[in-house]
Amino acid sequence: MPARLFLSSGDLMADRRFDFARDLQLKGDPVAAADLLSQAIELAPGFASAWFTLGQIREQLGERDAAIAAFRKALIADPDDRHGAKLRLMLLGAEQLSGMPPAYVRALFDQYAPKFEAALVDDLGYRGPALLFRAVLSARAAVHKPAFFRRAIDLGCGTGLAAAAFASEVDRFIGIDLSPGMIERARATGLYAELEVTEMVQGLRARHDASADLILAADAMVYLADLAPVLEQASRVLASGGLLAFTVETHGGDGVMLGKGLRYAHGAGYVRRALEAAGLVLSRLEDLSARNEDDAPVPGLVVVAGKS
Ligand SMILES: C[S@@+](CC[C@H](N)C(=O)[O-])C[C@H]1O[C@@H](n2cnc3c(N)ncnc32)[C@H](O)[C@@H]1O
Repeated sequence: MPARLFLSSGDLMADRRFDFARDLQLKGDPVAAADLLSQAIELAPGFASAWFTLGQIREQLGERDAAIAAFRKALIADPDDRHGAKLRLMLLGAEQLSGMPPAYVRALFDQYAPKFEAALVDDLGYRGPALLFRAVLSARAAVHKPAFFRRAIDLGCGTGLAAAAFASEVDRFIGIDLSPGMIERARATGLYAELEVTEMVQGLRARHDASADLILAADAMVYLADLAPVLEQASRVLASGGLLAFTVETHGGDGVMLGKGLRYAHGAGYVRRALEAAGLVLSRLEDLSARNEDDAPVPGLVVVAGKS
């Protein structure tokens, strides 16, 4: 994972105390680290990084109420929530499940961008684009249609791994991603005719009806809690006969949950209902894992749906 986000307090002494606290935390002394963080916060009460780190330490020490209080302070100190305090509050059961703060996703992937491919492909055995490619070819073969697409949109395109997998089958790729750092790398591949830094639902909203033949989302829907808005827009933007293909992480139950890895997991039943509600026709839904974690495959689904 990327280096942790640090937002300066603007107070040199408070920032120094934060650095010492991090050293102590890394050396395995969370109690002393918490003490120093409290001192930093006394000097700079709106120090979001200190509140957030204090929340993590309180959680580690089993002090749930104090952790919740610290994460709430982090959220007040940085309402855009670049640290993702809201997600921690959801995991602690102190907030209802809701969407991911866009500023958190952007900060996470901007930091991640330089080492993204090595971390994901080499360390986590990431195989999302290859799975989508195989599923799309099979879906097309089943209806005796060629797997060639004139206009494709890659949602949460990242550095361009999905466009690379589909390059020989797509004429013109548009990439959409929240993170300028990831988009910069996607641009360097030369695989995209157009790239846009924006949230994927907003990006789709700006597209004309029936203006795409293929929409992909490889390991990107895992950052959306509610799939309804993106599926509704994808359905509108797809031309008749077009395909939507995406991966999600999943779980044994129904509905949506936030996993410990801070990605949402969507139950198979939820995915089926959401596709149907968006007017898309399910073509394939396979139990396939796009990546490993702790050396084990993360339960996942590979989904292909069509616009009739
Ligand atoms: C794990 S990466 C996958 C990148 C690429 N699709 C691949 O297969 O390598 C997830 C990407 O989705 C982007 N992302 C997450 N949520 C998003 C959203 N709501 N709108 C646009 N992009 C988003 C992130 O910035 C990140 O680049």
